[in-house]
Amino acid sequence: MLFAGPKLRLLRLLSSLTLLWLFILTDAKKDLKITCNTCRKITDNFNKGFDRTANQNFGGGNTAWEERTLSKYETSEIRLMEIVEELCDSSSFECNQMLEEHEEHFETWWFKKKTKHPDLHKWFCIETLKVCCPKGTFGPDCNACVGGSEKPCHGNGECDGDGTRGGDGTCSCERAYKGTFCLDCSDGYFNVERNDTFSLCTECHTSCKTCNGATNQDCDECKDGWEEDDQEACVDVDECSKDSSVCKEGEYCVNTEGSFSCKDCDKVCSDCTGPGPDQCQACAAGYQDTEGTCTDVDECSQSEVVCTKEHQECVNTKGSYTCVCSSGYEKREDECVQTPTQAEEPESSETSADAHAEL
Ligand SMILES: *[C@@H]1O[C@H](CO)[C@@H](O)[C@H](O)[C@H]1NC(C)=O
Repeated sequence: MLFAGPKLRLLRLLSSLTLLWLFILTDAKKDLKITCNTCRKITDNFNKGFDRTANQNFGGGNTAWEERTLSKYETSEIRLMEIVEELCDSSSFECNQMLEEHEEHFETWWFKKKTKHPDLHKWFCIETLKVCCPKGTFGPDCNACVGGSEKPCHGNGECDGDGTRGGDGTCSCERAYKGTFCLDCSDGYFNVERNDTFSLCTECHTSCKTCNGATNQDCDECKDGWEEDDQEACVDVDECSKDSSVCKEGEYCVNTEGSFSCKDCDKVCSDCTGPGPDQCQACAAGYQDTEGTCTDVDECSQSEVVCTKEHQECVNTKGSYTCVCSSGYEKREDECVQTPTQAEEPESSETSADAHAEL
């Protein structure tokens, strides 16, 4: 029998035990698409193994015996064994199960069928195990996909179960196409070419929701944010020129193709028509209108005294001011007291300033 080496025997025993209980767990709901994909994986790996071993030989030195027998390695059981050993990942249950159940077929194919049936996937998965179907067909009986097996879904989509014994043959169309046959164009696309078996859909102009041609004059309906002009072309709506209330107070409007956005005003404005301090409609608190620009108010120079405590001084800041203790004084429990003359360091310089907001 094939594969009777001690290493392989142990491997087979171990995998058989693992497979037994996994088999009980999962066999009930075997997915026919997965089963075919497993088979495809095995035959793909077989072909890879076949290429990998193409220039190998029986090993050892370059002996006359090897020279004589090199040609025989090509078709030898040893080579077959080396290929079969690598067909499944040890972690792939489905693969190992399938291999376990059907490994004798590889021997049959290798010695008796290979010449007449060189396509292993076709012979093994489609014709022998009957877990796959030819390309363009699906389901238990390998029926042709919608649009025919030559061009499933008319070349514009994917046929459910294509190439497997599963699926129902319905088409999942590519983005530009829709309908049972993937011949109709999706919204935003139009037919450049179309007959009973062929359809080419191309994207509409960016302004159209639906269209029958490539320009903005070929729209059937404009997209949101676009409107028909006098020539029945879809043009951008300038949302910013309409009502001024499209953006919140403190923001200005920026028109974009098909839309608009709102951006924050400069911090010196409470409201504005555009970016920068020159386009304020009203100044923010702590700023005043000076020849069309909002500038900082110097609260400290106003006639009304703003820092009222003893030994306090006013320091102007952008948009506000702070009260700090005069030089030689420091903050102690909300009062400015004389700094001790001893070598004592003040606890922290931070505590000597008092922001306006905190007063
Ligand atoms: C449909 O159009 C395609 C592409 O132009 C062409 O190859 C095909 O022969 C046409 N089929 C029919 C039935 O007219």
